[in-house]
Amino acid sequence: MTIRLGDEAPDFTADTTAGTLSFHAWKDGSWAVLFSHPADFTPVCTTELARTASLAAEFERRGVKAIALSVDSLDSHRGWVGDIAAFGGATVEFPIVADPAREIATAYDMIHPGEGETSTVRSVFIVDPANRVRLTLTYPKSVGRNFDELLRVLDALQLTDRAAVSTPADWQPGQRVIVSPALSTVDARARFDEVEEVTSYLRWTPQPSAG
Ligand code: BEZ
Repeated sequence: MTIRLGDEAPDFTADTTAGTLSFHAWKDGSWAVLFSHPADFTPVCTTELARTASLAAEFERRGVKAIALSVDSLDSHRGWVGDIAAFGGATVEFPIVADPAREIATAYDMIHPGEGETSTVRSVFIVDPANRVRLTLTYPKSVGRNFDELLRVLDALQLTDRAAVSTPADWQPGQRVIVSPALSTVDARARFDEVEEVTSYLRWTPQPSAG
Protein backbone atom coordinates (compact mmCIF):
# COMPACT_ATOMS: atom_id res chain seq x y z
CA MET A 1 0.00 0.00 0.00
CA THR A 2 1.34 3.41 -0.90
CA ILE A 3 1.25 5.87 1.94
CA ARG A 4 0.49 9.43 0.95
CA LEU A 5 0.94 12.66 2.86
CA GLY A 6 -2.04 13.19 5.14
CA ASP A 7 -2.82 9.46 5.47
CA GLU A 8 -3.06 8.01 8.94
CA ALA A 9 0.19 6.21 9.75
CA PRO A 10 -0.70 2.50 10.05
CA ASP A 11 -0.69 1.38 13.66
CA PHE A 12 1.23 -1.75 14.61
CA THR A 13 2.26 -3.75 17.64
CA ALA A 14 5.78 -5.14 17.56
CA ASP A 15 8.74 -6.36 19.55
CA THR A 16 11.47 -3.75 19.78
CA THR A 17 14.73 -3.21 21.62
CA ALA A 18 12.69 -1.10 24.05
CA GLY A 19 10.10 -3.84 24.64
CA THR A 20 6.83 -4.65 22.92
CA LEU A 21 5.00 -1.50 21.85
CA SER A 22 2.04 -0.30 19.84
CA PHE A 23 3.05 2.56 17.60
CA HIS A 24 0.17 4.99 18.21
CA ALA A 25 0.10 4.36 21.97
CA TRP A 26 3.89 4.70 22.15
CA LYS A 27 3.79 8.00 20.22
CA ASP A 28 1.16 9.23 22.64
CA GLY A 29 0.48 12.47 20.80
CA SER A 30 4.09 13.26 19.95
CA TRP A 31 5.71 13.73 16.59
CA ALA A 32 7.60 10.64 15.41
CA VAL A 33 10.27 9.77 12.87
CA LEU A 34 9.78 6.17 11.77
CA PHE A 35 12.63 5.01 9.57
CA SER A 36 13.62 1.69 8.09
CA HIS A 37 17.08 0.41 7.28
CA PRO A 38 17.99 -2.48 4.99
CA ALA A 39 19.89 -4.71 7.42
CA ASP A 40 21.61 -4.90 10.79
CA PHE A 41 25.40 -5.16 10.97
CA THR A 42 25.90 -3.15 7.78
CA PRO A 43 28.05 -0.03 7.49
CA VAL A 44 25.75 2.73 6.23
CA CYS A 45 22.97 1.63 8.58
CA THR A 46 25.37 1.68 11.52
CA THR A 47 26.26 5.32 10.78
CA GLU A 48 22.57 6.24 10.45
CA LEU A 49 21.46 4.71 13.73
CA ALA A 50 24.51 6.14 15.50
CA ARG A 51 23.61 9.59 14.18
CA THR A 52 20.04 9.17 15.41
CA ALA A 53 21.32 8.17 18.86
CA SER A 54 23.59 11.23 18.98
CA LEU A 55 20.64 13.51 18.09
CA ALA A 56 18.50 12.34 21.05
CA ALA A 57 18.51 15.78 22.69
CA GLU A 58 17.61 17.50 19.39
CA PHE A 59 14.64 15.18 18.86
CA GLU A 60 13.52 15.62 22.46
CA ARG A 61 13.73 19.42 22.24
CA ARG A 62 11.28 19.26 19.33
CA GLY A 63 8.95 16.76 21.04
CA VAL A 64 9.85 14.06 18.51
CA LYS A 65 10.32 10.33 19.12
CA ALA A 66 12.58 8.34 16.79
CA ILE A 67 11.92 4.68 15.99
CA ALA A 68 13.88 2.45 13.60
CA LEU A 69 12.80 -0.74 11.86
CA SER A 70 14.16 -3.59 9.80
CA VAL A 71 13.12 -7.14 9.02
CA ASP A 72 15.93 -8.48 11.21
CA SER A 73 15.13 -10.31 14.43
CA LEU A 74 15.06 -8.80 17.89
CA ASP A 75 18.13 -10.86 18.81
CA SER A 76 19.95 -9.38 15.83
CA HIS A 77 18.99 -5.81 16.83
CA ARG A 78 20.09 -6.49 20.41
CA GLY A 79 23.43 -7.79 19.20
CA TRP A 80 24.00 -4.80 16.93
CA VAL A 81 23.21 -1.90 19.30
CA GLY A 82 26.56 -2.31 21.06
CA ASP A 83 28.40 -1.75 17.77
CA ILE A 84 26.27 1.33 17.04
CA ALA A 85 27.01 2.83 20.46
CA ALA A 86 30.71 2.00 20.21
CA PHE A 87 30.91 3.64 16.78
CA GLY A 88 28.82 6.73 17.53
CA GLY A 89 29.58 7.25 21.19
CA ALA A 90 25.90 7.45 22.19
CA THR A 91 23.63 4.73 23.60
CA VAL A 92 20.74 3.71 21.39
CA GLU A 93 17.78 4.75 23.54
CA PHE A 94 15.18 4.78 20.74
CA PRO A 95 13.38 1.51 19.86
CA ILE A 96 14.48 -0.63 16.93
CA VAL A 97 11.50 -2.63 15.68
CA ALA A 98 11.93 -6.26 14.67
CA ASP A 99 9.70 -7.05 11.71
CA PRO A 100 10.79 -10.54 10.58
CA ALA A 101 7.32 -11.34 9.17
CA ARG A 102 7.52 -8.06 7.16
CA GLU A 103 4.01 -7.07 8.18
CA ILE A 104 4.93 -3.50 9.07
CA ALA A 105 7.30 -3.20 6.12
CA THR A 106 4.43 -4.24 3.86
CA ALA A 107 1.93 -1.86 5.47
CA TYR A 108 4.39 1.01 4.94
CA ASP A 109 5.56 -0.20 1.50
CA MET A 110 9.17 -0.38 2.69
CA ILE A 111 10.15 -3.36 0.51
CA HIS A 112 10.80 -2.39 -3.07
CA PRO A 113 11.15 -4.77 -6.01
CA GLY A 114 14.66 -4.52 -7.40
CA GLU A 115 16.08 -3.24 -4.13
CA GLY A 116 16.22 -6.64 -2.45
CA GLU A 117 12.92 -8.48 -2.13
CA THR A 118 13.47 -9.36 1.50
CA SER A 119 14.79 -6.15 3.02
CA THR A 120 13.42 -2.72 3.69
CA VAL A 121 14.69 0.29 1.76
CA ARG A 122 15.79 3.47 3.56
CA SER A 123 12.30 4.88 4.14
CA VAL A 124 11.44 7.78 6.44
CA PHE A 125 7.99 8.76 7.68
CA ILE A 126 7.50 11.89 9.75
CA VAL A 127 4.24 11.42 11.65
CA ASP A 128 2.51 14.26 13.45
CA PRO A 129 0.78 14.27 16.85
CA ALA A 130 -2.53 13.33 15.17
CA ASN A 131 -0.80 10.28 13.58
CA ARG A 132 -0.91 11.81 10.09
CA VAL A 133 2.02 11.21 7.76
CA ARG A 134 3.61 14.57 7.00
CA LEU A 135 6.75 13.57 5.08
CA THR A 136 7.93 10.50 3.23
CA LEU A 137 11.46 9.94 1.93
CA THR A 138 13.05 6.95 0.25
CA TYR A 139 16.80 6.68 -0.18
CA PRO A 140 18.75 3.99 -2.01
CA LYS A 141 20.78 1.44 -0.11
CA SER A 142 24.12 3.00 -0.97
CA VAL A 143 23.26 6.50 0.29
CA GLY A 144 22.97 7.34 3.98
CA ARG A 145 20.28 9.81 4.96
CA ASN A 146 20.86 13.40 6.07
CA PHE A 147 19.52 13.64 9.61
CA ASP A 148 20.07 17.41 9.72
CA GLU A 149 17.52 17.59 6.91
CA LEU A 150 15.02 15.63 8.99
CA LEU A 151 15.45 18.10 11.87
CA ARG A 152 15.07 20.99 9.40
CA VAL A 153 11.81 19.53 8.05
CA LEU A 154 10.53 18.98 11.59
CA ASP A 155 11.30 22.62 12.41
CA ALA A 156 9.58 23.76 9.22
CA LEU A 157 6.49 21.58 9.79
CA GLN A 158 6.13 22.73 13.38
CA LEU A 159 6.49 26.37 12.29
CA THR A 160 4.10 26.17 9.33
CA ASP A 161 1.51 24.36 11.46
CA ARG A 162 1.35 27.28 13.91
CA ALA A 163 1.69 30.28 11.54
CA ALA A 164 0.30 31.09 8.09
CA VAL A 165 3.69 30.79 6.44
CA SER A 166 5.70 28.44 4.22
CA THR A 167 9.44 27.91 4.11
CA PRO A 168 11.50 28.65 0.99
CA ALA A 169 14.15 26.52 -0.68
CA ASP A 170 17.07 25.73 1.61
CA TRP A 171 15.38 27.47 4.56
CA GLN A 172 17.13 27.20 7.88
CA PRO A 173 15.56 28.02 11.28
CA GLY A 174 15.69 31.76 11.98
CA GLN A 175 15.61 32.80 8.34
CA ARG A 176 12.78 34.72 6.69
CA VAL A 177 9.71 32.79 5.56
CA ILE A 178 7.00 33.12 2.92
CA VAL A 179 3.55 34.51 3.73
CA SER A 180 0.83 31.99 2.87
CA PRO A 181 -0.77 32.71 -0.52
CA ALA A 182 -4.12 32.33 1.30
CA LEU A 183 -3.48 35.68 3.04
CA SER A 184 -3.86 38.99 1.21
CA THR A 185 -0.96 41.42 1.61
CA VAL A 186 -3.27 43.72 3.62
CA ASP A 187 -4.16 40.89 6.00
CA ALA A 188 -0.53 39.76 6.15
CA ARG A 189 0.58 43.28 7.15
CA ALA A 190 -2.02 43.26 9.93
CA ARG A 191 -0.81 39.88 11.16
CA PHE A 192 2.97 40.08 10.78
CA ASP A 193 5.43 42.76 11.93
CA GLU A 194 6.96 43.22 8.53
CA VAL A 195 5.98 42.09 5.03
CA GLU A 196 8.12 42.56 1.93
CA GLU A 197 6.21 42.06 -1.32
CA VAL A 198 8.36 40.73 -4.19
CA THR A 199 5.35 39.80 -6.31
CA SER A 200 1.67 39.48 -5.43
CA TYR A 201 2.31 35.83 -4.59
CA LEU A 202 5.78 35.98 -3.05
CA ARG A 203 5.84 37.94 0.20
CA TRP A 204 8.58 37.63 2.81
CA THR A 205 8.20 38.02 6.54
CA PRO A 206 10.64 37.37 9.38
CA GLN A 207 10.19 33.98 11.03
CA PRO A 208 7.29 34.34 13.51
CA SER A 209 8.40 33.76 17.06
CA ALA A 210 7.23 30.69 18.96
CA GLY A 211 4.26 31.09 21.24
C1 BEZ B 1 24.73 -0.65 4.46
O1 BEZ B 1 24.03 -0.10 5.30
O2 BEZ B 1 25.88 -0.30 4.26
C2 BEZ B 1 24.18 -1.80 3.65
C3 BEZ B 1 22.86 -2.18 3.80
C4 BEZ B 1 22.37 -3.25 3.07
C5 BEZ B 1 23.19 -3.93 2.20
C6 BEZ B 1 24.51 -3.54 2.06
C7 BEZ B 1 25.00 -2.48 2.79
